[in-house]
Order: sequence, then C-alpha cells, then structure tokens
Amino acid sequence: MQITLEFTTLAGPHPELLVIPVFEEDRDFEAAASDPALQARLRAVRESGDFKAGVGELLWLYPEQPGQATFVLAGLGKQAPDPLRKGFQAGFAIGKRLGARSRGVVSLLLPAVALAHAGYLRNLTEGIITAGRGAGLYKKERERFALSELRLMVAPHGGLNQASLEAELHGAQVTAAALNWARELVNLAPRDKTPRRLAELIHDVLAPLGVSVEIWDEERIERERMGGLLGVSAGSDSPPRMVLLEWKGDPEAPALALVGKGVTFDSGGLSLKPSASMEDMKCDMSGAAVVAASFRAVATLGLPVHWRGYLPLTENMTGGNALKLGDVLTIRNGLTVEILNTDAEGRLILADALSYAVEQKPAAIIDLATLTGACLVALGTKTAGLFANEQALKSRVQHASEQTGERVWELPLDEDIADSLKSPFADCKNIGGKWGGAILAAKFLEKFVDGLPWVHLDIAGPSWSEADSGTQDAGGTGYFVRSLVRLAQSESTA
Ligand code: BES
Ligand code: MN
Ligand code: ZN
Repeated sequence: MQITLEFTTLAGPHPELLVIPVFEEDRDFEAAASDPALQARLRAVRESGDFKAGVGELLWLYPEQPGQATFVLAGLGKQAPDPLRKGFQAGFAIGKRLGARSRGVVSLLLPAVALAHAGYLRNLTEGIITAGRGAGLYKKERERFALSELRLMVAPHGGLNQASLEAELHGAQVTAAALNWARELVNLAPRDKTPRRLAELIHDVLAPLGVSVEIWDEERIERERMGGLLGVSAGSDSPPRMVLLEWKGDPEAPALALVGKGVTFDSGGLSLKPSASMEDMKCDMSGAAVVAASFRAVATLGLPVHWRGYLPLTENMTGGNALKLGDVLTIRNGLTVEILNTDAEGRLILADALSYAVEQKPAAIIDLATLTGACLVALGTKTAGLFANEQALKSRVQHASEQTGERVWELPLDEDIADSLKSPFADCKNIGGKWGGAILAAKFLEKFVDGLPWVHLDIAGPSWSEADSGTQDAGGTGYFVRSLVRLAQSESTA
C-alpha cells in the first residue's frame, strides 16, 4: 500500500472517497466539507445524534450527484484519557470495512488533535494497514483487499514536522506488515506449519533481511541436551526444531534475548485436552511467531539494537513414544523435571530455550508464551500477564505497551508461591497445586533464567481472537509485535 501525506485545507475538489475520523469530544465534522450542500448533510448527521463516534463506528454518506465524494465518518472514541489503544482499533475498523472490496484512492482527513497525541498517527495507520489482511487464508474467494493508496490529508499549521510524520508512517507500514506475517503464521493450519516447515518459513523471510538464522534439527537438539524440547516432541511424528536468530543492528549494544513458545499444535499429549479446548491450539506457537515478526520489523527498519531470538518448535502429540506421567526429563541446565501433566509442555521447551539463552549472557531476557489457561481466567482475553524479576526491564516493557495499547498486567513472583512445584523424585515437577496456575508456570520458568533481568509475558489470552468483530478479525492477533518494535525503537533513540 502506498501512503502519502498531503498538506491541504480541503479547499479544492473533494476526493472520491473521504474518510473523516471523529473523536467523541469533537463533533464539528461538517467543517470537513467545502461545499455547502455537503456541509448541510453532515450537519444533519451531527444533529440527528445517530453517529456517536464510538471506536469503530462508521457512517457512510453516498454521493447525491455524480462527481461528489463518498464520505465515511469514522469514530475514534474518546480522546481522554488515553486514545492510543483506540487508535489502532479505530484504524482497524476503517481498514476492515473499506477492505471489503478493492478500491482506488482513499483519502483520510486527519484531525489536528490526532497529531497532538504522540504516536497516535502511527497506531491509527498501523490499524488501517493491518486490516488489509483478513483471516481467510484458505478461502477460495478473496474477501479482504488492502487499500492500494491512502492519502492522509493534514491541515497545514505551525509545529508540524513532516519528516517525523513520514517516519511514523514508515514505521507503521513496516510494523503492520510484520504483524500480518505473525497473524498469518498463527492462522496457518497445523499441518502446514510443522516445526520443520515453520522453521523454513521463518528462515526464508528473515535471512534475506540480514538476520542470522540457525536451525537445529533433532540430532543437534539431542547433542545440545535439550531434554525438555525432546521430551515434548517425542509423541509426535514431526521432529522438533530449534531456531536461533540474531540481529546485530548495533553489535556494541547490550544483547536482548527474546524467547518464544513454538508449539505448533497442542493436543495436551496423554493428558489430552477435551476437543473444544483443542480447537484453537494451532495458536500455541504465537510466542515464536511474534518474536520472529518483531525481528522482521526491526531488521527492515535497520534498528541499531542487538537482539537474539530463541524459538523452540514442536508439536505436543500422543504418539507411542509420548511422555508418560512420572517420566523425568533433564533440562539443558541440568535440572530434572518430573512430568505429571503432559499438557504443561510449554514450560518444558521454554526451560531449555531460557537455559541456553542465559549461557550467552544477554543483558536481559523477555519470553512470550501462550502458557496457561489460568492467565485467561485471571486477566481475560484482552490483557497479557506480565512477570518480572527486575524493575528497569519491566518499565521498558510497560512503556512500550503503553505506546501501542497492547495491555499487560503484572502478576506476582513471590518466593513462597512455588512450594507446590517440589517433587519427591526430581528437582521439581512440571505442575503445582490447583490455584494460581499462571504464577506457578512463571515460577517454574524463573528457575531457568539464572537471576538475569527477565520479563515473562503470558499471552494465552490476547494472542487469539475467538470473535470476528468490527475492530478485530477472528484468529491470530500477533499480540505484542507492535510493542516489541516500539521497545526496539525507543532503545535506539535513547
Ligand atoms: N497452550 C496451553 C495454554 C493455553 C490455553 C493457551 C488456552 C491458549 C489458550 C498450555 O500448554 C496448557 O495446556 N496449559 C495448561 C497447564 C496446566 C496443565 C498446568 C493449562 O493452562 O491448562
Ligand atoms: Mn498444553
Ligand atoms: Zn501449550
């Protein structure tokens, strides 16, 4: 999609299709029309009160005569207190409705207040572009079209910095493309993204961008003593893979390790999930997809950071060699784990990946994982659980999340919570007591980070959307790609 900025007061002829975004507090939208007849129609809409400018609300005004513009009033919700999360959602709604068929040029009149909020334009355009791709990967008939050209019309006024607006738009385009790649990987059918295939797909996108991509096959994984990853994959006919990424935008910068859970299908193993809980378990590689997609954006933008990625990829199946309850695995760092529920598999593969990441002495570690249903119970489907053992890294992640509106909420890592992970036979068990499952899983992971600054994000809720709505598509959401890119960008300007 081509995006252009135009500094204009709209005095000239109306464009063919003009989107007029409107904040709830600011209903003066008839000013957007230059001809009195259209102004009158817009005023009638305002006076009717039918258009409330809620997030994602759209009202279409078709031309009454040939040559007139089609107007689309697009609700942005309230500006106050914080519009940033709504910016992406409102943009998505615009892109989704307009993308229902293929179109020529679309113009969008940016309200001046939108530009007053730092980062708002970025979120709005990221939403519009992202919505140019739907979830219908396998449909015979195409049902979503990316806009071919978006013209952003801005009333010229003092204090506008064209270069920085253009940088925001470029960031939005790159990030949205990466985000859509993550969504696509998550939406792929499990049989189309076996660990071997997924590793190839990641390689083929990232290697040409200058990201170093190393792929370990099962023999190498065995030689590297990754007992957790091998154990989980033992029940599957598809062998596991370990994908290692490195981006040295600035080789001198402190290295950040990003670890992503890559279970390409989670049946639960012998602790089999009920069918309904298994329906969406192709999403269990969201952490890996989000990390890979963030590398894509960071490399495309050429950001001066040093990132390493660790993506353990496996299926969790019930084959004849599958893990049994009471089995004991030895993780890469030497700790032994008694398996008492084969459905608590994510922490086993992450344990190996974290142990290995720690050996390379990064300055900090962030892991992303669709780790527990308990996190969904605690926080719902729209917020990720955040666990942290260090303040500075936590603040950086929280700050990035505030810029995108991809919400996180902190849960505790207190010492005495994890007693139930003790095993009589091994160093620990892979499950604990009945309560606080998201916390127990985090406490389990903590054993493998060796005290390094670490943030664990349990994205089980927000990485998947059950419902298709005006402001979201069903399926994979690519949750936290945008925030990780912001993290890298704020790091590079710091
Ligand atoms: N992949 C699941 C967690 C999950 C659940 C992700 C729902 C997305 C939506 C994970 O491997 C799992 O099965 N966790 C178990 C842990 C339990 C056995 C301790 C769970 O949450 O039930
Ligand atoms: Mn599981
Ligand atoms: Zn899982």
